[in-house]
Amino acid sequence: MGTTIKGSIGLFDSGLGGLTVLRELHRSLPARSYVYLGDSARTPYGTKGKETIVRYARECAGFLLEQEIGVLVVACNTASAAALSVLEAELPIPVVGTIEPAVRAALESTRTGTIGVVGTNSTVSSGVYEEALLRHDSHLTITSQACPLFVPLVEAGMVAGDIVDKFVEMYCAPLKERGVDTVILGCTHYPLLIQAIQTYLGPKVAVVECSRAIAQDVEDLVGKDGGQQTTPDTRYFVTDEVSKFNYLATAFLGEREVRAVRIETL
Ligand code: DGL
Repeated sequence: MGTTIKGSIGLFDSGLGGLTVLRELHRSLPARSYVYLGDSARTPYGTKGKETIVRYARECAGFLLEQEIGVLVVACNTASAAALSVLEAELPIPVVGTIEPAVRAALESTRTGTIGVVGTNSTVSSGVYEEALLRHDSHLTITSQACPLFVPLVEAGMVAGDIVDKFVEMYCAPLKERGVDTVILGCTHYPLLIQAIQTYLGPKVAVVECSRAIAQDVEDLVGKDGGQQTTPDTRYFVTDEVSKFNYLATAFLGEREVRAVRIETL
């Protein structure tokens, strides 16, 4: 399995959030090349309607296909919830989404079967997490909470401090009250807020996200050394101005300087 898939691994998100998935892929599969697209001109996706998100997802996937990727990672829960099945049906390459990997991580973690889900308005109102969790285990108790202000906070580079703590408390209080033992970060931006969220929920609550499980799925597809490129690199594209993205992405990824290219249309 895996060794026949050549080409780079493509990822897209509405902005910075998918970098949390890319970071994990860099760790797990450092010999591969990557193409990252942050659709920063149209962030956030999570407040938009399903048809709009499907259109954006198709356009992002189309751009990445032109970059000759061999696998597409939809590094956005909102786009996965709205458009994964469309992309899987339409694209000529394997597509990996966020929902099933995050559900797997939560099922491995929970002891009491009481699970919280935080995500964008669109992801939470789609009910995709409840459906996937209950398909695996119909006895689970699930509490979902939309957190529409988390993505703008992260996109503004605000990931710690009093204001962040206030928003975390506001959104996570219902989960604490329900006594969840596991919380799924159902948005790829949210791992950037994990310290504040974990501190608020306390050490007994496991805060899980999709990136490690996604990296495992991609590794299963391409093989640990499959399609190894001699000079692996990562190319970054954004749909809005580059300076803020470059600054925040470089700070976040740490080990490498990010120099994104702005594309005008998708
Ligand atoms: N990172 C996207 C997600 O996982 C954020 C969506 C948004 O732009 O609102 O849902």
